[in-house]
Amino acid sequence: MKRREALQALAASPLPFVPNHWPAAQPAPASYKFPPGFAFGFSTSAYQIEGAVSEDGRTQGIWDVFCHTGHHIQDGRNADVTCDHYHLMPGDVALMARSGVPNYRFSVSWPRLYPELSGPPNKRGFAFYDRLLDELQAKNITPWLCLYHWDLPQYLQERGGWTNRDTAYRLAEFCDKVSRHFGGRIGNIMVLNEAAVHSYIGHGLGFHAPGLTGKANWVSALHHLNLGQGLSIQALRASAPHARIGTVASCEPVRPSTHSPEDVKAAALLDAMWNGAVLDPLFKGKYPALVAADFEPYCKPGDLRECQQKIDLLGVNYYNRLHIKYDPHYAMGVMFGADNDKVKYRAMNIPMSPDGLYEIVMRIHNDYGQPEMFISENGFATVKDGKPGSGLEDDGRLAYLAANLQFLQKSIDDGANVTGYFIWSIMDNFEWDAGMKYRFGVVDVDFKTLQRTPKQSYYWYSALVKAQRGVQV
Ligand code: FCB
Repeated sequence: MKRREALQALAASPLPFVPNHWPAAQPAPASYKFPPGFAFGFSTSAYQIEGAVSEDGRTQGIWDVFCHTGHHIQDGRNADVTCDHYHLMPGDVALMARSGVPNYRFSVSWPRLYPELSGPPNKRGFAFYDRLLDELQAKNITPWLCLYHWDLPQYLQERGGWTNRDTAYRLAEFCDKVSRHFGGRIGNIMVLNEAAVHSYIGHGLGFHAPGLTGKANWVSALHHLNLGQGLSIQALRASAPHARIGTVASCEPVRPSTHSPEDVKAAALLDAMWNGAVLDPLFKGKYPALVAADFEPYCKPGDLRECQQKIDLLGVNYYNRLHIKYDPHYAMGVMFGADNDKVKYRAMNIPMSPDGLYEIVMRIHNDYGQPEMFISENGFATVKDGKPGSGLEDDGRLAYLAANLQFLQKSIDDGANVTGYFIWSIMDNFEWDAGMKYRFGVVDVDFKTLQRTPKQSYYWYSALVKAQRGVQV
C-alpha cells in the first residue's frame, strides 16, 4: 500500500488518542450557553495546508518564491508538501466530520485556479475544490470560502503586486470568476484575510511574502487591498446573489509597550493602521484622521466610495493584544515591543489575553454600527518538544480556547452580534515565516509521515460543540 493510501485508510480507522478527562480547571463543555444556531467551525488556508505546489498546472505564488529565496523562514522549511491536504483531503474532512464541528472556512489558491496572467481557468485546480465541496456536502459540513488568503500569483507580483493599483481590479475579477464557478454551492463568502497583517508584515516589515519594506509599500498595499475588497464585494453581489458576503479582518487591541510618550504615540499610530485603516474605509468610507494624509497619494477621488460597502458579516481574527513601541528603524517608526502584561498564557513568546477578545468585539460592536460578526480565527501555538505525547496533551491550548469562549460568550450576553466561532486550525500546518516551528492545530501532523493524530483540544472542542447542539456525548 502506498503511503497516501495508508494514510487515507488510517483516517477512516478509529482515532488513536482519546483522553478521558480534561484538565480539572476547565469549564465543562456543557457549561457554555451559546445561542441556538451559533456556527462553530474550523479555519485553514490553501497555502498553509495544500502542498502539491507544482501539480496539476499550479504555478508559483509569492509565498513559493519567498520560501525558496533567501532565509526568510525561521526553520528553513517550506510549504511544498506541508500537510499534503491536496491529496489527503477526504481524510481531513472525515476528521472534521467526526468531531461534529459543522462549519469549515478554507481559502482557494489563486495560482492554482488561474496559473497564468490572462490565461484560461485551470480545470484541474477547480476540480480539486469541487471535490472538496462534494466531500463537505456528503458530511454535512457547511463551507465558508475565503477568496484571498495571501497567496498572490507571482505573475502579479512581477507587476508590482499590491503596491500596484491594478491588483485591486484583478482581485475583483478573480472573485467574480471563482464565485460564478462555485455558483450556489457556497452560502458564506469572505473576500480577503487580514489586510492589516498582509500589508504591514508583508509590505512594511518584510517578514512575510513578498518581503517588501517601508512606509510607501505598506500604505499603498493597504489602500489597494481595501479598494480591491470593496470592488470584490460589489462583484460578488452580482455573481453570488444568494450568498452572505463579508470579509475577514485581524482585529486586536493595541497597547504601548511602556508609558513613554513615544511608545504611546507609536501605539496610537499602529492602532490606526491595524484596526482603523481596515475597518473605517469599509464601514465609514474614510481613513482615521491620524493617518488619512498618509493615504492621500494613493487614494483617488471616488476610491473611498468603492471601499465602503455593506457586508452581511465581518470575520474577526483574534489572537492577542499587540504591544507597540517607537522604533525609528521601521516603517512609520512603529514596531512590536515588549509587553508588561501579567498574562497567564504565552504562545510564540507572545502574551495571549482572552479578555482582549471581549474588548475588541465590544469596540467593533459600538464603533461600527453593531455589525454581525463571527470569530473567523482564534487559536494557540505550541512547540512540539519531541517527548512522546507532548504534542497531544495540549492543556495550554485547551485552557486558552476555553477562556476565549467564555469571554466571547460574555460579549454576546452584553449585546454583541457574534454568530460564530472558528478555531485556527483543524491541524498543524505551515505557519508562514515560522515554518513548522509553531503548531496551531487541534490535530497533530507528523510532517515526516503526514500522519494526523487528534490532540486533547480536538476532543474538548468536539464535546463542547456537541453539547451546544444538544448531541449526547
Ligand atoms: C493569522 C493568519 C493565519 C494563521 C494564524 C496563526 O494571522 O490569518 O493564516 O497563520 O495567524
